[in-house]
Amino acid sequence: MTKTLLMLPGDGIGPEVTAQARRVAERLIEQGLALDIGEARFGGVAIDADGMPLTADTLTLAKASDAVLMGAVGGPQWADQPYGNRPEAGLLALRSGMNVYANLRPALCFAALADASSLKRALVEGLDILFVRELTGGVYFGEPRGIETLPDGQRRGVNTHVYTTSEIQRVARTAFALARGRKGEVVSAEKSNVMEAGLLWREEVQALRDAEYPDIRLTHMLADNMAMQLVKNPKQFDVILTDNLFGDMLSDEAGMLTGSLGMLPSAAIGDAGMPGLYEPIHGSAPDIAGRGVANPSASILSLAMALRYSLGAPELAAKVEAAVEAALDGGARTADLGGTMTTAAMGDAVLAHLA
Ligand code: NAI
Ligand code: MG
Repeated sequence: MTKTLLMLPGDGIGPEVTAQARRVAERLIEQGLALDIGEARFGGVAIDADGMPLTADTLTLAKASDAVLMGAVGGPQWADQPYGNRPEAGLLALRSGMNVYANLRPALCFAALADASSLKRALVEGLDILFVRELTGGVYFGEPRGIETLPDGQRRGVNTHVYTTSEIQRVARTAFALARGRKGEVVSAEKSNVMEAGLLWREEVQALRDAEYPDIRLTHMLADNMAMQLVKNPKQFDVILTDNLFGDMLSDEAGMLTGSLGMLPSAAIGDAGMPGLYEPIHGSAPDIAGRGVANPSASILSLAMALRYSLGAPELAAKVEAAVEAALDGGARTADLGGTMTTAAMGDAVLAHLA
């Protein structure tokens, strides 16, 4: 059956990098993939054209697609919009509207880039970690929240770190299921020593493993220790399961072990059969936008994740990843990787390995 991919190019370098991912998708269609590609306005461009970053029509389209591939949103020209009408607010509305509660972030080291890491080659060569970060709960969303003024004139900022059983179980299920297709190992990180929500996290993850995933090797690690272990010996990890806050930091830390922002894809997925949202982890890069020099690899690798997790074509995902790797092995480098290639030339280099 023909699947559908909705492209939301967005702002800044978003249209430049997604154009290359689109060329890759079109090449796969020529080679037999049954995929319909649509496109819609999202982010700052939608504010300019439609008065809001995410229209109801675009959200409906996204929810009716099998996968959504986003570029990036935001930029200085929309920074003075009221908060609820900024491009970034559109992104949060898209994530919650699609109910994508599990954020998948690979930290994969390409051999050709191993010397670009801040760690020694031996520590990162062959690194392949998959982060599963809870994306729609925890301290970023918990109530009560806000800044209040106390009777004595001091101000107090409040956020609430809160998780329910079902919020923990659904993202843990995602991690365990993905681990089955990998090494069968999950390390779960929290701060159960000082936080009740972390203690609940540990207990619920362990109970779910015992009840439904006895084949998975599960270990628990305190999040601060994991921050150290990731730079000491990152190859000890395969699948890492974290909450929203710790996952935000630990996945950024792990991603940077492998090189440039321009190489890092991500996915946000929800319940099985529901559409996933795929995007590079970088932003709209206004400093280089319009010059055709951005690295499209993160966008192309995000398409690969969409093929694997939403479009039922894991073999094509591997093929696209291998093409990116082959292009790097052949010396293809954009400026962020120390080279001089344009965005389109980098796309050409990947396409050359998709014969
Ligand atoms: P950024 O990721 O856009 O850029 C950071 C630095 O990395 C810049 O020097 C940029 O040139 C470089 N860079 C990023 N992607 C690159 C690529 N593919 N190739 C080569 N170099 C690349 O982060 P920044 O500057 O903090 O944010 C810019 C805008 O993007 C802001 O409006 C921010 O809110 C938005 N943003 C949007 C995100 C999204 O749409 N999910 C995520 C992060 C930021
Ligand atoms: Mg972050």
